[in-house]
Amino acid sequence: MKIGLFYGSTTCYTEMAAEKIQLKLNELFGFELVDLYNIKDNGFDHITEYDLLILGISTWDFGELQEDWEAKWQDIETLELNNKTVALFGLGDQDGYAEWFQDALGMLHDVVVAQGASPIGYWPNSDEYDFIASKALTEDQSHFVGLALDDEGQYDKSELRISQWCEQLLTELA
Ligand SMILES: Cc1cc2nc3c(=O)[nH]c(=O)nc-3n(C[C@H](O)[C@H](O)[C@H](O)COP(=O)(O)O)c2cc1C
Repeated sequence: MKIGLFYGSTTCYTEMAAEKIQLKLNELFGFELVDLYNIKDNGFDHITEYDLLILGISTWDFGELQEDWEAKWQDIETLELNNKTVALFGLGDQDGYAEWFQDALGMLHDVVVAQGASPIGYWPNSDEYDFIASKALTEDQSHFVGLALDDEGQYDKSELRISQWCEQLLTELA
């Protein structure tokens, strides 16, 4: 089993989170499980090699997609994801952009589910978070559709969130 982790990152925060997720999952599984791909370099060229995907995206410009994801968006709409299990994570800033917190995470979730992917790794919208609105919430607002990280205001929480989320993935995959 291998996991392909595909991410786009403008100022490297999503990239750093991707590397931490890779490290943690490799540690948990005990072998080099996760391959990292910056979509800016090769897009989704290698996506067919994996049944398990992790996708990382940040939100920019008042609820917009990170620029590399935006540039490749039409390619996603041609992907065949019927037999793929997909976990998502997002970077955002709930204090600075409270009305658009993690919107891109929600948009990415919707497009991969529309392409047939089975999502895992929903993350509790606990009282640690404080924002006005987000497109990344489940209908009942109880969960984000993936791991929601905020390295602007809650950098100190990211390490533990990543670690708990990776353990959650392990359980969901078992
Ligand atoms: C100009 C600007 C606009 C942003 N807009 C949003 C937003 O609408 N929603 C949100 O949750 N975060 C927003 N952010 C926060 C970024 O998502 C955050 O800085 C993230 O860590 C960037 O990750 P990256 O460097 O991997 O792209 C914005 C940041 C900047 C600088």
